[in-house]
Amino acid sequence: MSTTTTIETTTDNKTQFLQETLTGLQSEPKFMRSKYFYDATGDRIFQQIMEMEEYYLTNAEMEILRYQSAQLSQAITADGTAFDLIELGAGDATKSIHLLKSLLDNKMEFSYVPIDISEHVISDLEENLPKKLPELDIKGLNGDYFDMLKKATQLSDRRKVVLFMGANIGNMTIADAEDFCSSLKQLLSPNDLLIIGFDLKKNPQQILAAYNDKGGITRSFNLNLLQRINKELDGNFNLENFEHYASYDPASGACKSYLISLKNQIVNIGRQAIHFAENEYIFMEISQKYALSDIDQLAEKTGFKPLQRFFDQHQYFVDAIWKVD
Ligand SMILES: C[S@@+](CC[C@H](N)C(=O)[O-])C[C@H]1O[C@@H](n2cnc3c(N)ncnc32)[C@H](O)[C@@H]1O
Repeated sequence: MSTTTTIETTTDNKTQFLQETLTGLQSEPKFMRSKYFYDATGDRIFQQIMEMEEYYLTNAEMEILRYQSAQLSQAITADGTAFDLIELGAGDATKSIHLLKSLLDNKMEFSYVPIDISEHVISDLEENLPKKLPELDIKGLNGDYFDMLKKATQLSDRRKVVLFMGANIGNMTIADAEDFCSSLKQLLSPNDLLIIGFDLKKNPQQILAAYNDKGGITRSFNLNLLQRINKELDGNFNLENFEHYASYDPASGACKSYLISLKNQIVNIGRQAIHFAENEYIFMEISQKYALSDIDQLAEKTGFKPLQRFFDQHQYFVDAIWKVD
């Protein structure tokens, strides 16, 4: 691997975006796949979300990475062998950069393989990370988690350390998270590691505020997916006819966001006409919150052994290290 900027892109991204969008909007109830939030505008709005006062998740995980990267890097490198550090849904890597720095400071032999469905994210990381960390060996992969993970695991026969942070696992239902972790385990080898972030159950008002901010940034983030469909899939959504709604259920730990149709309307996507009744909802995204016991259960059910946990000072968030059992 080298530091040259080669982006691997799946050719059928747009066809898949169209098919999955139509499937979701022709279903009852309607839904969208949250992975499509992240075009260049979505990436930018997500950065604004991360800076919001109400969005405690970023500060909490940032605190873990900023102050405990030395311990994290010690745990990853305990056996002293070279490895590939594969980050799923890397985003702008503002948190993982602390771990990368710590590994480089300790002269560890590793390659960094960020995977992200946003092409903009990968080109940005490949261009900018080497400026901040000149010794970093980086190869970005643009595409869906598992398509790219299969490629990533074939890049070398070194052991793998997979990073899955930012509560990305929370964007799955618990059942989907189990399938995801089981599939991930199938692609890894005994003793490979997973560092995985979970947002913990806490005061329901605090959670709801993070997904229903006063400034309306989360609202814009959700509406931007309709705008993206207009631009890329020849849609004609009128954004003023949809309203953002968020809910949190403290019993299940599921925080959900929806777009509500404000009137009876027809929206065209290419040649397909989609009917929305007044007050009909589109389910946009889940952000699942976990108790610590749920996390250990998830590890055990899916073939991982929990090794260590790293918390922020308020215990809002945890980054757990699991080993393939
Ligand atoms: C919530 S952001 C978190 C970014 C980063 N991990 C952090 O902690 O700040 C989610 C990132 O995952 C990417 N992503 C979402 N679904 C994906 C998928 N199915 N395959 C690959 N990347 C995905 C998005 O493009 C986005 O950059």
